[in-house]
Amino acid sequence: MLKTDFKTYLKDRNLKFYDDKILKIKNTLNNGGEMLDWYDINKCISPDEVIKIKNISKEIRKNCELFIVIGIGGSFLGAKAVITALKPYFKKEKPEIIFAGNSLSESYLTELISYMDDKETIINVISKSGTTLEPSIAFDIIYEKMKNKYTDDELKKRIIITTDPEKGILRKLADNNNYQSFIVPTQIGGRYSVLTAVGLLPIAVSGIDIDKLLLGIKKVNKDLAFKYATIRDSLYHQGKLVELFTFYEPKLEYFVEWLKQLFGETQGKNKKGILPSSSNNTRDLHSLGQFYQDGTPIIFETIIGIDKKGNLKNNLYKYPVEDINMIALKQVAYAHFEAGVESNVIMIDDLDEFHIGMLIYFFEIAAAAGGYLLDVNPFDQPGVTAYKKLIEKELKK
Ligand code: PA5
Repeated sequence: MLKTDFKTYLKDRNLKFYDDKILKIKNTLNNGGEMLDWYDINKCISPDEVIKIKNISKEIRKNCELFIVIGIGGSFLGAKAVITALKPYFKKEKPEIIFAGNSLSESYLTELISYMDDKETIINVISKSGTTLEPSIAFDIIYEKMKNKYTDDELKKRIIITTDPEKGILRKLADNNNYQSFIVPTQIGGRYSVLTAVGLLPIAVSGIDIDKLLLGIKKVNKDLAFKYATIRDSLYHQGKLVELFTFYEPKLEYFVEWLKQLFGETQGKNKKGILPSSSNNTRDLHSLGQFYQDGTPIIFETIIGIDKKGNLKNNLYKYPVEDINMIALKQVAYAHFEAGVESNVIMIDDLDEFHIGMLIYFFEIAAAAGGYLLDVNPFDQPGVTAYKKLIEKELKK
């Protein structure tokens, strides 16, 4: 299950003021409309598409050594988050999954191109617009390599395109060459797209059970997500401008990167919004713990914990390592609370497909509700568009 603790490390606050606002937000989400299809899982992904994803991913797992996922932002972070959270730390598995197109590093692309030399490769390029700079450049270079490596017939099995259902350069490329393709639903924005083919195909290729992931979504207590949204909003209006997503299992590192995009792009506009940040504990307590405890009082925390008994014994303490981690989580939260740094706690029973599914949907609801509470459009990103235009202009000179 997903449990929340909105009491132990938070000061009492009256949230009655939010009741009407939340009712309105619930109506908006339930009624659906522009960019709201993510809220209804049936509109994210159809049963037929789930079957298609499972079939293709089975084939890919049988026949390919290297699976390259090209995308950035919402077209990358969701899959990377789930795969990093759920796959083992050290075991090497086939196919190896590599992400590209999320930077402009020439050395990364140069090394990747030669890494492909002796490996059976399949690529999945993901871009709703088809025009984003980083994945466009990466795809151009990797596609060229694929064309040199494989025949046209082979390419039909090795290029998979996930993009807009009708528009854009990638849709045209898929149609003209009979490449396998998936859609990014028109009414779902990048940062809310992990439960569409954008995230689900790479996740399935990694061997993760996407049925269990989707089951988790159906079990979320939406009221808890709305309550969390109101607490964040009230903390923000009390001058807590930074939300530290704190985690004690390093496998959640990219999940929190995904959260930072989800909340940052949803709320940070019109000179408003909470700055999402993250803390990989206990590692970061030894570098930033001093600031959290004692620095400028602009932080609140949202702790994501895994409430699981440990097994790994040691000679120093009577507790297994997992239990020591939980003791650290609680005592650190308490120390911070005593210093005026409040925390929400969100606990899952285990780090598995079901609970990651729950976390995804819980946070998507809270982020969107948070946008509405701040009176901004949760689903646009005008600031991103602004810098993209300037880079394009310079590149055309
Ligand atoms: O949330 C968003 O809309 C963005 O982060 C996009 O996902 C990101 O810019 C990539 O866009 P595209 O999928 O069009 O390449």
